[in-house]
Amino acid sequence: MEQTCSLPREPAAAPAGQEQRAAGLMELLHREIATSGGWIGFDRYMQLALYQPGLGYYAASPGVLGAWGGASDFITAPELSPLFAATLARQLGGLGASLGLQRVVEFGAGSAALACGLLRELAEAGAWLPEEYAIVEVSAAMRERQQAAVAALPAELARRVRWWESLPQRFDALVLGNEVLDAMPVRLLHHTQAGWVERGVGLDAGGALAWSERELPPGCELRPSLRQLPPGSVTEWHEAAEGFMRSLGAHLGRGVALLFDYGFPAREYDHPQRTGGTLRCHRAHRAHDDPLWEPGLSDITAHVDFSAMARAAREGGLDLLGYTSQARFLLNAGLLDLLAPRMAAGDAASLRLAAGVQKLLGEHEMGELFKVLAVGRGVDAPLAGFAQGDRSAALDDAPSPDAPPHEAAPWD
Ligand SMILES: C[S@@+](CC[C@H](N)C(=O)[O-])C[C@H]1O[C@@H](n2cnc3c(N)ncnc32)[C@H](O)[C@@H]1O
Repeated sequence: MEQTCSLPREPAAAPAGQEQRAAGLMELLHREIATSGGWIGFDRYMQLALYQPGLGYYAASPGVLGAWGGASDFITAPELSPLFAATLARQLGGLGASLGLQRVVEFGAGSAALACGLLRELAEAGAWLPEEYAIVEVSAAMRERQQAAVAALPAELARRVRWWESLPQRFDALVLGNEVLDAMPVRLLHHTQAGWVERGVGLDAGGALAWSERELPPGCELRPSLRQLPPGSVTEWHEAAEGFMRSLGAHLGRGVALLFDYGFPAREYDHPQRTGGTLRCHRAHRAHDDPLWEPGLSDITAHVDFSAMARAAREGGLDLLGYTSQARFLLNAGLLDLLAPRMAAGDAASLRLAAGVQKLLGEHEMGELFKVLAVGRGVDAPLAGFAQGDRSAALDDAPSPDAPPHEAAPWD
């Protein structure tokens, strides 16, 4: 997700036409907090704020992602450059043909830029084209936007796309997810002097949404690297995304899942200096850090703990096939070979293409912060995207041996 500067948090009017939705969501949150004894976990808050049908951010704002300068809130890699889909098509084409697979499954397809780009590129390359391109999308509004984009594809490609309501018991496929894990609800943890507690949402004396903390449920197993974080720290627990990875393991037969997102391995995630966690909100290409501010009008995300994702995938029976930065993956998969001929004209379009590639690869843009995790089952051959610079070993989530021994954690 590309975004720029911070958003000043003066009270802002909801965008035209959104006031009623924002008010409806606020009413629902108040009701839910009241009926839950005055407190809901942050994961429940995030679920409602983003995905409550008709009221949440994704449920009601199909324009949330898209080009700069429009009504969108952020831009993702497939929107930023057509070469993202073109490069991925090379990796998928090779894998699909060698594994004899007939299906791609994409989770959280956004505007369907990746789905349409991939199908066009694969058709043009003429080597491997999936019989079925299945999209799994939680937001009805995003699904409508996807359907409109797919309808503009040539009929021979559009007929391959369908939307799955749920996962089949078992399916063989190449699975994709770009910036989906970061959009899944997280629980919040606060390291107090007395140990770790869960931070959730309640109401203050004036009835406004406010942070409120509770003891962790008994038997709660927290990740080992949390020991690196000093008292005072707040961080996230990706319980829903871990569940997603385990469930992928339960349903995926033969195939590979490639998950692109911003994040780190656990040791870096729980770096002793990252005491404020990674929760971030996006609105109109600006970032802010108060998820309780005007719920439903900003996106809420957290960086991904890739060690936890790899562990959960393994628990679901999948093999870890690779982990590297987005830049390294795209370079390994041949992005520069695709760029060179398209730069030949030296016109404004090729300059725009080069600028997009710079954002995808740049160390201070998306190239290093964004990672690619590959997991799968029944795959023996190495994946081209991880041929050089595979960092799978970094996913080991034991706390760093040099981490200062902060007070014993309550689960010790
Ligand atoms: C940040 S957007 C990314 C969209 C798109 N992949 C892109 O790169 O432009 C997150 C998308 O994931 C969807 N989503 C979130 N949780 C999901 C889940 N559990 N299963 C499927 N889709 C999900 C959202 O509705 C939204 O379309």
